[in-house]
Amino acid sequence: MANSNLSNAKNAKNDEFYTQYADIEKEIMAYLEYNPEVFRNKTILLPCDDPEWSNFTKFFAQNFERFGLQKLISTSYAHNSKNYKSTYQPTIFETKAPHYDETKTIVNGKIFTLTADNSGDNKINIDDLQWQYLVGDGDFRSKEIKKLRDEADIIITNPPFSLFREFLAWIVAANKQFLIIGNMNAITYKEVFPLIKENKAWLGATNFNTGMYFKVPSDFVYADTYKFERERNGEKVNRVPGVCWFTNLDHGRRHNPLPLMTMEDNLKFNKKLIDKESYDRYDNYDAIEVPFTDAIPSDYDGIMGVPISFLDKYCPEQFEILGATQRGCHDEVPDTKKYDDYWEVKQSGEKTGSSGGKTNENANLLGNDGKKNYFINKEGRIIQSAYQRIFIKHKKQ
Ligand SMILES: C[S@@+](CC[C@H](N)C(=O)[O-])C[C@H]1O[C@@H](n2cnc3c(N)ncnc32)[C@H](O)[C@@H]1O
Repeated sequence: MANSNLSNAKNAKNDEFYTQYADIEKEIMAYLEYNPEVFRNKTILLPCDDPEWSNFTKFFAQNFERFGLQKLISTSYAHNSKNYKSTYQPTIFETKAPHYDETKTIVNGKIFTLTADNSGDNKINIDDLQWQYLVGDGDFRSKEIKKLRDEADIIITNPPFSLFREFLAWIVAANKQFLIIGNMNAITYKEVFPLIKENKAWLGATNFNTGMYFKVPSDFVYADTYKFERERNGEKVNRVPGVCWFTNLDHGRRHNPLPLMTMEDNLKFNKKLIDKESYDRYDNYDAIEVPFTDAIPSDYDGIMGVPISFLDKYCPEQFEILGATQRGCHDEVPDTKKYDDYWEVKQSGEKTGSSGGKTNENANLLGNDGKKNYFINKEGRIIQSAYQRIFIKHKKQ
């Protein structure tokens, strides 16, 4: 119970992480560089936002004319419906509006729209945003927001981390273009991986191997376990490791092939493969283990297992994705062995009590690295699992 409370609290907190302007700008510029018309005459929906101070709303409103947008819609989620309970103070912008409503400000979501010059200064920009209370709380799953989704061409946001799967499915169901932030681990979710495999989704242009900093509410209390907290320019920010953009908008970086060495040169010169005479083969897949993306050999024709971070360098003209070690995601690369008659052992020699069935469908390697738990059978045969792997193959030229 205590644990689930803690993880609920952590999820609720992560749901209130706000994206920084510079990160949005850098990412969006990459799409414009590749296709300057990418947003022309498009309706952009920014759901799960807080339009009064969200950098997404600010960025697109400021660039409305420059990008040639047709319509910008941005919606927020009602304060009372949020999982993370913080103190609420409506903005002066809202309270001075004639339609300000003391109750609705807490229980209703809001919608901001921008289509035309309303201020009469002959420019369409942030000053022309019109707002209303939504009928409901702004939940992206509500009929009201679904209608806006259906009206939009492109959906852009940093959705609540705890609802990422559902949010992506919500976009895919309506067959929309999108650019959203999520955790890199989502790559192997069974709802996400098939999209990546089929080149219906990919990683964005500016990903963050070291994590990304998000602004957090001013009354946000950091848990002791959060190590990366910081104040920047008087604002509280927090680092979230392993975060990346997911999109189906094209950008140039994904069409740059990775420069690679041959297998022989990798074994001779790649410092990360020191001590290796050959690439390991998995015990249960017909594929070789490539533990680092920069160690992918240029001249190997067979199937290779690579870390999920490979996707940040994935060029669809160079490689084909065949599967992942996630259950249900490797039909084209079937596992050749099960480990139900093995048991798991700690490095101390103590059994964990788990059966080897636990490592079925992982990418398993023969031997013991002296670090991780291993699995052993009654003949003394020892295997260990590599981290999650994606199976790839060079594309035939
Ligand atoms: C990670 S924050 C990001 C906010 C903003 N998009 C940004 O990047 O600055 C996610 C937002 O979604 C809101 N939210 C949580 N659950 C939601 C739901 N079911 N429907 C819509 N919004 C939700 C949260 O309250 C929070 O404001």
